[in-house]
Order: sequence, then structure tokens, then C-alpha cells
Amino acid sequence: MSEAKPCLAYYLSAVIVFLLLTVSTSLSAPSPASSLYDTFLQCLTQHTNSTAQLSSILFAPTNPTFPTVLENYIRNARFNTSSTRKPLLIVTPLTESHVQGAVICAKSVDIQLKIRSGGHDYEGISYISDEPFIILDMFNLRAITVDVENEVAVVQAGATLGEVYYRIWEKSKVHGFPAGVCPTVGVGGHISGGGYGNMMRKYGLSVDNVIDAEIIDVNGNLLNRRSMGEDLFWAIRGGGGASFGVILSFTLKLVPVPETVTVFRVEKTLETNVTATDLVVQWQQVAPTTDERLFMRLLLQPVSSKVVKGTKTIRASVVALFLGRANEVVSILEKEFPLLGLRVENCTEVSWIDSVLWWNDDESLKNGDKPETLLNRNLNSANFLKRKSDYVQKAISRDGLEWLWKRMIELGKTGLVFNPYGGKMAEIGSDATAFPHRKGNLFKIQYSVNWDDPSPSAATNFTNQAKRLYSYMTPFVSKSPRSAFLNYRDLDIGVNTFGQNSFREGEVYGSKYFNANFERLVKVKTAVDPHNFFRNEQSVPVLPTI
Ligand SMILES: *[C@@H]1O[C@H](CO)[C@@H](O)[C@H](O)[C@H]1NC(C)=O
Ligand SMILES: *[C@@H]1O[C@H](CO)[C@@H](O)[C@H](O)[C@H]1NC(C)=O
Ligand SMILES: *[C@@H]1O[C@H](CO)[C@@H](O)[C@H](O)[C@H]1NC(C)=O
Ligand SMILES: *[C@@H]1O[C@H](CO)[C@@H](O)[C@H](O)[C@H]1NC(C)=O
Ligand SMILES: *[C@@H]1O[C@H](CO)[C@@H](O)[C@H](O)[C@H]1NC(C)=O
Repeated sequence: MSEAKPCLAYYLSAVIVFLLLTVSTSLSAPSPASSLYDTFLQCLTQHTNSTAQLSSILFAPTNPTFPTVLENYIRNARFNTSSTRKPLLIVTPLTESHVQGAVICAKSVDIQLKIRSGGHDYEGISYISDEPFIILDMFNLRAITVDVENEVAVVQAGATLGEVYYRIWEKSKVHGFPAGVCPTVGVGGHISGGGYGNMMRKYGLSVDNVIDAEIIDVNGNLLNRRSMGEDLFWAIRGGGGASFGVILSFTLKLVPVPETVTVFRVEKTLETNVTATDLVVQWQQVAPTTDERLFMRLLLQPVSSKVVKGTKTIRASVVALFLGRANEVVSILEKEFPLLGLRVENCTEVSWIDSVLWWNDDESLKNGDKPETLLNRNLNSANFLKRKSDYVQKAISRDGLEWLWKRMIELGKTGLVFNPYGGKMAEIGSDATAFPHRKGNLFKIQYSVNWDDPSPSAATNFTNQAKRLYSYMTPFVSKSPRSAFLNYRDLDIGVNTFGQNSFREGEVYGSKYFNANFERLVKVKTAVDPHNFFRNEQSVPVLPTI
């Protein structure tokens, strides 16, 4: 169930984690500030023009609120253990000038800066590190201004997608923005890494609808599209912002949405008359080629059989958004996807904002949830999880699928989510932005496993399970490189230790995330941050010095 509602999974587990862990809080009185704290604060005072509240934006580990500030935006409970390395400081800027100061001062004390815009960051690399580090936490920089007349919105990096959708809806019922379906995802990482959601086949990725950006560079300069130049602007649309600077805001081009849209969910198992296998075979033909207003996500999950007790089956769920009315999508799918058996009574016609609520949780409308739900940041709540990704370019055969179901049932818990491409995605060149995965891809896979047991052995068990499924998928997915999606961050595909081989290490994961765009990203990186100040486990490396 939790796999079918990936955004929802957080609430329950937080309670369980709380019950399972013995929380020992020893609130020590604020001890004398560390010298790093003093040095940093003094530096900030000199390098920012808004000095009024500086001590309130800087948190040393001795500060009693430090754990809460740290944990609020931890979105993967795997990285919330007592042995997880903690930052030396957390900086929570309130102004652009604070960000400028933070970059200059982290550089002057020569400590790695991790930039966090709020979630989901599956591998936690915006708030953990093997080397000493400082977190620049952007959650206060969350302003959103919507200009309906000109159909643009300026959105700061620390806003969430739910807030963006809500603020657009406040001003217009016929505008939206193509980005992710989970409301608590943070704008900065989501958009700079590509940003996709259920309007992708009609409008492309978030980055295809970004018309300007503000970034603080390694020298503390505040740049916009004109002053950063087209190379850097290209790089931060799909290359991930954190390799290049600190994204402050994006200017988004709003897109039109109909007053009424249609959502539906259809489920089959291996035991229904039309089987899950039949469904997936036809889905692969239809989902990437159908009307571009239609996005049909497919979720595959091993579940307990309701027919033969004690056995498992595979459940295939089609979850869809159609930018139009129910009767139209039913008549399209009667022709193209008869095995789905969709009827008007299986569909729900809603406003676009209610479709956002439904996609987050398909019970939400029944439960009377209002758009205000989208403003809930669900602080300090996280599941244990592992994600991986793949791209499929050739339909998987019926035999292949049947073999795969056996493997998934054996493994027991890891699910797959197929996100269909085609439509607008196939019309945009693979080098138009840094995001390369365009034409030729039928669908993208997200591997997904969540668990509640906080023990390290459970983490090993379930992450290994995801790895094994990934290995089983090898014959069915893209090759040389085996492509991956940056925002489904996965450290298994390579990490950088920033030693002698930094460039080669970077090439390993970089070629998978960026395909042929890797080379240009390296050139941009080398030009804007030659000493590699902005780095993380999978950042774009600089060219090797000869
Ligand atoms: C402070 O710096 C920001 C740019 O970082 C600028 O927009 C603002 O006008 C400055 N404010 C003052 C009072 O100098
Ligand atoms: C669609 O609606 C029909 C008629 O109400 C119902 O029999 C069928 O089970 C529904 N199908 C799905 C997938 O919900
Ligand atoms: C499934 O097929 C069987 C045999 O063809 C038929 O008797 C049954 O009514 C069908 N069930 C549904 C739900 O269509
Ligand atoms: C992190 O762990 C603490 C207990 O040590 C718990 O109170 C908190 O809710 C957890 N937060 C997340 C995001 O997992
Ligand atoms: C390991 O995974 C299997 C299969 O999902 C599960 O049955 C088992 O309970 C897990 N073991 C642990 C220690 O989590």
C-alpha cells in the first residue's frame, strides 16, 4: 500500500519510529559556543548586509534546537541515526545576502557546504557527509509570487511543490506547473535536477518551463540568467544546482490547465481475468504513444493473494491524469487500451488542484481534504527507504514480464513504478537542457522499497533487495550507459572521493545521469567553480589538471 502512495508513506512510519526508539534527550544548557561558531558568525557579520538577526540563523551542535533543525528536513530515516555524521553548523538564511555570506564564510574556513532545499533527497547527501561539513538550509527562503497576467511565477528554492501549486491555484483555476506529484518535495533540488510529474507528456519537464533563475556563485555573486550566461543557465536545468552554486529562485512559465481534469486508478493482479501481465503488455504500447494530455503511471508491487491464502501475486495499478473530461479519455482508451476496461464510472472529474490532492493520496478527496493540505510540510517525519532508477527503450516481452514477476515475488517487497515518456518529452532535444533522457525512451523506472524496522539489518536487507531487482532488470533496460535519473539519487551507481581520480569517478555516475551532456557539464563546472567548492558525493567534477 505504501508503495502505491509514495508521498503518503511518511506519516505512519514516523509514529512507529518514535515508539521503537528510546529517545534519550539530555538538554544541556547552551554551552560556550565553539570557536568555529564564533569565527563563522564574525565572518558572516562582515559579509552580509543584513546583520540584524545573524545569531538566529546560525546553529551550533550545542544549541538545544540543533537536532530539530537538522531533523525537520530529513526525508529518509536511514540517515537519522546517532552514528550518522552531523554538520558542524547549520545556517538558515533569511535573505539572499545571508546566502552570499554563508558561501564566502564556508570557503574562508575551508569546510564543505551542503545545500538543502527541503526534500526528498533519497540518499540524504544534502545533509550528511563523510567529511566535516556545514549545512546551508534554505527552508526560510520560500517566497512565491504568481503573476497570472504574464503567466509567470518566481519561486524561491526552499518552497515546496505543494506550496507552488497552492499559490498558483489561489490566483487562477486554469493555470498549473509541470512538476512532481509529492507536495513536500523542495523546489531547488527538484527543478535543478530535471523535475518531472504527471503533465510531462504535455508540457515536458519543469526545466522546460523555467525562464530565469537566480544563483549565488562560488565568489558570493548573485547572478540571474543574463549575468550567469546561457552555459550555466543550461547546466542548472537538469544538471543539479548543487554542483554549480546555490540556487535562490527559479522563474517559472505557468501552463494552462482545463477547469476540469480526469483521474482514475485501475488495478489487476495475476489472478484477474485480464491479468496484470496482459495489462502491462498493452500499457507499454499505449502509455508512451497515446494522447499527450494523458499520463498513465504504472505501479507494480508484490502483494498477498486474495485468492490463494499464504501466496503472493503481482498487482499492476494504472494511475492516471487526463487533461480533459472523462468521456473523452474513455473513448480514447476504448480504442487504444481495451484491456484496461475503463468506463466513465471508473473516472473522477476534478479541478486541477484536486487532482494534485488525489495524486498525493487518492483517499484525500473522499476524506474532505482541501487544497490547504498542500501547505503542510510534514516536518520531521520520514520513512526508511531506498530508490533506484532505469530507462526502458524497448518493450519488455510477455515472457520477460512473467520471469520478472517471479523474481519480484521471491524478493518480496521492492516495487517498480513505470513513468511513461513520449509526447512533449520526445520533441525536445536531448541537449536542449542538461537533462538528457528524451526521445527513444518508452518509460523511466523507479525502484521503490520502504520499511519501518529501524535496525541496520533491515536496511541491509531491503537495500540489497532493491539492488538484486536492479540486477535482474539488466536485460530489459538502457545500456552503455545504463542511464539513471539524477533526482532518484542512488549512490550505488558511483561516488566521488575527490582524490586523484575525481574526474574518472565523476564520469562513472555522470555518464549515467547525463549521457552525452556530461562533457558540457564538466566544462561549465570547470569554468564557474574551478576549485570544486560546490561538491557532493555525486557532483559534476572539474576537468583534471594536467
Ligand atoms: C543587500 O544585498 C542584496 C543582494 O544580495 C541587495 O539586493 C540588497 O539591496 C542589499 N541591501 C542593502 C541594504 O544594501
Ligand atoms: C469500473 O466500473 C465498473 C462499473 O461500475 C465496475 O464493475 C468495475 O469494477 C470498475 N473497474 C475498475 C477498474 O474500477
Ligand atoms: C472471468 O472469466 C470467467 C470465465 O470466462 C467468467 O465466468 C467470469 O464472469 C469473469 N469474471 C469477470 C469479473 O469478468
Ligand atoms: C529522527 O530521530 C529522532 C529520534 O532520535 C526522532 O525523534 C525524529 O522524529 C526522527 N526524524 C526523522 C525525520 O526520522
Ligand atoms: C528481509 O526481507 C524479507 C523479504 O521481504 C522479509 O521477509 C524479512 O522479514 C526481512 N528481514 C529483516 C531482518 O528485515
